[in-house]
Amino acid sequence: MQTLGLDQLVQPDRVHKSVYTDQHLFDLEMEHIFESAWVYCGHESQVKNTGDYFTFDIGRQPMIMVRDKTGGINVLYNRCPHRGVELCGNQSGNTGNAFVCSYHAWTFHLDGKVRAIPLMKGYEGTKFTADDPMASMVAAERVDSYRGFVFASLKSTGPSLVDFLGEAKVAFDDMCDRSPVGEVEAVPVCHRVVQHSNWKFFMENQLDALHPSVTHQSTGVSARRVEQRLKTEKGSAPLFFHYLSTFASSFDQWDAVQTVNFPNGHGILKAYMGLRPTDPDTVEYEDILKKAYGPEKAEEYLSRSIHHVLIYPYLSVQSPLQQLRCLRPVAPNKTVSEIWHFRLKGAPEAIYQRALWYYNLVNSPATMINADDLENWTKGQLGLESKGGEWVSFHRNYGQDTEKNGVLYSNNGTSEVVMRSQFKAWANYLTPAFKAA
Ligand SMILES: [Fe+2]
Repeated sequence: MQTLGLDQLVQPDRVHKSVYTDQHLFDLEMEHIFESAWVYCGHESQVKNTGDYFTFDIGRQPMIMVRDKTGGINVLYNRCPHRGVELCGNQSGNTGNAFVCSYHAWTFHLDGKVRAIPLMKGYEGTKFTADDPMASMVAAERVDSYRGFVFASLKSTGPSLVDFLGEAKVAFDDMCDRSPVGEVEAVPVCHRVVQHSNWKFFMENQLDALHPSVTHQSTGVSARRVEQRLKTEKGSAPLFFHYLSTFASSFDQWDAVQTVNFPNGHGILKAYMGLRPTDPDTVEYEDILKKAYGPEKAEEYLSRSIHHVLIYPYLSVQSPLQQLRCLRPVAPNKTVSEIWHFRLKGAPEAIYQRALWYYNLVNSPATMINADDLENWTKGQLGLESKGGEWVSFHRNYGQDTEKNGVLYSNNGTSEVVMRSQFKAWANYLTPAFKAA
């Protein structure tokens, strides 16, 4: 168990390794961060019809997101109030008009209220009554959505969803505005990867512009070689080569990119991957957007400088390519990530194919990009669990970032301000727990 105080664990330019390895700190994170903040549940298109459900964890709590008869979406604890059995054993499906417990057949409406208890006469003369709230499933304290993305909080107080998202809500605006009807739809199957590393490795990595030219060099260089050969031989190369060759950009190019780091840990990696070619598919798509929004708005939507948006502490959204990855931490050294991609409603099929290519070439566990990151994080976890050192260094460009109204703007894309900023937010979340101890 860790024994250091919060200001010793998290210092302005370094952190103690136990923040990645200690079970007690992990439990505090679950209680004071994940089980308190707004947490992403899923997209409303994952539960289109009455009875459709999706199961996931908020912190250590098993939850169900379900569409009810009124068309609303409820987020409930996945627990039968009788003897505690999980009501949905699958990750997704349709439960019809009710949840039915597989143990003793208690049934519940889709808003969690008890519907029927078999053999009620066995309860006659006891303290139990079906109208007692304890006979019904428990709902998340707060549920809200932003442009179709559903969030829940297990705490009744705190900022609204929009205030929690703050500037980082641009992740969802940028994704949805790229559809001529302003909406996206989740492609129903996601990849799930078990990462043998602390969740913070993933969050740091997303805006770590220093690592691609090292970690992804072999993939990027190989893709560039083929891309250039095709351009020489055929005059052009399919766009998806660009997705991979970009990873081999020079350090100077990465250093020229800016990260924007918000006080609550959210962040934006700016720059756009040059995905505005002039092929007929793109021209057709851009015309559709211009018709829908007018030329000025369409241009604004198409030219936003965004590569990744992070919603701290669990979401990485790559809005220009309709990608979203969500973390569900399991243990200090184990994290499940859900890897989703989305379809722009009303956009041509060719544009969807680009999202699918990116999903398969970069974010899928079968690609060398994701696999190389996963290897780093596993090796990082193993190193931090060793006795080979106590500290993790975030000194790069320390004191050289620009701060405006609490927001930190990197002057070097490879500045470790990203990690420093995330740990500031982490310490803020955990301050009450340390004060109470
Ligand atoms: Fe990477």
